[in-house]
Amino acid sequence: MPDFQAWTTRILKRTEGALEDLLPPASVAPERLHAAMRYAVLGGGKRVRPLLVHAAGEVCGASPDALDAAACAVELIHAYSLVHDDMPCMDDDVLRRGKPTIHIQFDEATALLAGDALQTLAFHSLSRPALLADSAVQAAMIHDLALAAGSRGMAGGQAIDLASVGRQLDRSELEFMHIHKTGALIRCAVMLGARCGAPLDRDEIDRLDRFGKLVGLLFQVVDDILDADGDTATLGKTAGKDAAHDKPTYVSLLGLARSRAYAGELLDEAVGEIAPLPASGRLADLARFVVHRRF
Ligand code: IPE
Ligand code: IPE
Ligand code: MG
Ligand code: MG
Ligand code: MG
Repeated sequence: MPDFQAWTTRILKRTEGALEDLLPPASVAPERLHAAMRYAVLGGGKRVRPLLVHAAGEVCGASPDALDAAACAVELIHAYSLVHDDMPCMDDDVLRRGKPTIHIQFDEATALLAGDALQTLAFHSLSRPALLADSAVQAAMIHDLALAAGSRGMAGGQAIDLASVGRQLDRSELEFMHIHKTGALIRCAVMLGARCGAPLDRDEIDRLDRFGKLVGLLFQVVDDILDADGDTATLGKTAGKDAAHDKPTYVSLLGLARSRAYAGELLDEAVGEIAPLPASGRLADLARFVVHRRF
């Protein structure tokens, strides 16, 4: 997929530049907080959510500038969720993106505040005055991101995750947890990109939404597989920690082989949803990347 690789490289570069522009310099007070925010965000991660924003933007011919702002917003929420997820009161992890986690590199209070400030920076990015010509659409995007990040989205899913330690959830409970803690933000990334261009019709929106929901679940199923089957050096985060912390996952429920088969089924379904849409090839490539990634 040389074309996909070149496209990915281009989007990663512009996303890095846009994030760099949004984050306050570490030389500005409070320096330690700004340094921690930059450490958490810059120079790491697969940037799957920004890639999804831009890929969905191709379906509707969106302006790259608006896509950058939306891509940054969603990546900043994601980065904040990782900072808090790694803290001792949650998953207690020491390694993230191949580096010490924020509370290790800085301290716990700084990690807490960096997460808080990254969350508000996300909304700062998406609420930029006149980002879109249609301010009602922009307001709807802000509304969607708030829902996806909050107690009925990512934060709610994380609460369920913590409440589920030591329990084996049944399949529908596990799916509910995954579509919230990880799925909501991925689904939102697709919908944000889809709103940055020419208005799509109802069927197109519904297809993209179902695609986003499926890829969101798929993403966490593969994360569960990689935790059980990957190695720490390749993952850039500690392998085997779900079993060590007695977390319910698709692997603990179904085993590795059936989890992989399920990921394949979700991929086929997701790609099928968007097949009728014009210029949806990038989204399909990204869904395949989510399944075949090694980290
Ligand atoms: C890890 O997300 C946490 C989950 C939501 C499963 P990613 O695998 O996207 O992490 P980065 O951004 O590439 O580091
Ligand atoms: C994290 O899920 C989901 C978030 C909202 C951050 P995990 O706890 O499985 O993510 P990793 O494996 O630490 O990246
Ligand atoms: Mg977690
Ligand atoms: Mg974790
Ligand atoms: Mg995990």
